[in-house]
Amino acid sequence: MANFAKKDSNRNSHTCNVDIGDMRIKYKDKSETFTEDQLVSKDPLQQFKAWFEIACKTSTINEPNAVLLGTATKDGKPSVRPVLLKGFSSDGFKFYTNYESRKAQELAENPCAALTFFWDPLCRTVRIEGTVTKTSIEDSDQYFNTRPYYSQIGSLSSKQSTVIPNREFLIIKEKELQKQFPNNVKRPDWWGGYIVVPKSIEFWQGQSDRLHDRIKFRRLKVGEKPDNILVHQGDNGWVYERLSP
Ligand SMILES: Cc1cc2nc3c(=O)[nH]c(=O)nc-3n(C[C@H](O)[C@H](O)[C@H](O)COP(=O)(O)O)c2cc1C
Repeated sequence: MANFAKKDSNRNSHTCNVDIGDMRIKYKDKSETFTEDQLVSKDPLQQFKAWFEIACKTSTINEPNAVLLGTATKDGKPSVRPVLLKGFSSDGFKFYTNYESRKAQELAENPCAALTFFWDPLCRTVRIEGTVTKTSIEDSDQYFNTRPYYSQIGSLSSKQSTVIPNREFLIIKEKELQKQFPNNVKRPDWWGGYIVVPKSIEFWQGQSDRLHDRIKFRRLKVGEKPDNILVHQGDNGWVYERLSP
């Protein structure tokens, strides 16, 4: 930070040109590599579960289930934002949101998504890519009903991703809705879950010398067979391979 303050000499000028080229921290050293023999399972869901549990036990990670969700328009214009993962299984990775938001509009026209977890203190990321579908009405209801009252009212108050005049606008809406629904809030049909059905899941662990470890699981292509040199047989229909960092 001190370094940054010293370099930020343009603070009062109309230009902004901050050189942060020397900002870097150490990742893991050669004694802590991530090799194939350390995979707890050849099924990437089990491997994800193992890494996720470690992230949950790491006190310096506030929200291990916070994940960056990338979507894109039909013509390929991308956008990324954090969401909270609310469940995972062999079916896929679940999150909940407003079905009229920007992300939802993008998913409606292009149902492909990417999720990236970045667990900074562990020098680890997990990248998931796949197709997205809405979860069932029952699933969305069930999750919505477990949310705290203030979160339920909050979701109702917000036409997510739309332009509003000021913050007061939201507070007024919130108060109106609190009067209208003093106890139970019913899930609106424009709010619910999505599930990302993975086509690939990559486990990355950082090394200080930039020779990072990358083990990627993916589905076999039609007619493809694992050669046990580059492509290795995993479990439950997955294969895995090591990517150059
Ligand atoms: C840590 C974190 C978790 C978030 N979780 C969610 C979430 O689960 N669902 C959601 O709709 N927005 C969540 N948000 C807000 C989104 O990042 C984003 O602002 C919002 O969904 C609107 O995105 P969009 O306009 O691209 O659709 C979260 C933000 C942060 C910082």
